[in-house]
Amino acid sequence: MNYPLITVITILGVSLSIASCKKSEEEDGARVENIQTEVPVESDLAKAMKESSRVMKRLERAVKHNDWVEIEMWSQEIKEGIGGKCVELYKAENKWFASKFVILHEKFASALDTLILCSQEQNSAHLNREFNRLTESCDECHEIFHEEDED
Ligand code: HEC
Repeated sequence: MNYPLITVITILGVSLSIASCKKSEEEDGARVENIQTEVPVESDLAKAMKESSRVMKRLERAVKHNDWVEIEMWSQEIKEGIGGKCVELYKAENKWFASKFVILHEKFASALDTLILCSQEQNSAHLNREFNRLTESCDECHEIFHEEDED
């Protein structure tokens, strides 16, 4: 006579504990989602950099082919992408402001301007040198700022 009652109680107990397990799993799931949405989205500076790096590949190809129109076009696009605004973007995203960043940016901007001038003058004697100077100016800034940020 007692057996059915015990069985009912056991079943009730087991199903209750299963239900509560499920609930806490759901809660965990919700918490995980929250953490995921809190991961910072890619910074505007990183986005502008990535885009410029795509344009750099086109610029490199144009330099190889001495394509003056394209060299000027892609250089101008890089100038618009990071040349003009990367200091502002950097300032907005970093609490401490580094004047070294401005100096390295100026070096980069002047290398870019020289390359644009070179394409306007169709100066093939200096083309590779100016393009190398530009890529060096990208690398120099990354050596100091990008790799530091990654740690
Ligand atoms: C004055 C400094 C400076 C110059 C010049 C510069 N960069 Fe950057 N770059 C940075 C910094 C700082 C980051 C890290 C941004 C971040 O992760 O928020 C970065 C990141 C990048 C990234 C990685 C983006 C990512 O997170 O996926 C690429 C690609 C890149 N730069 C390409 C270039 C190219 C190409 C040039 C030259 C045409 C260039 N950069 C010139 C400072 C500079």
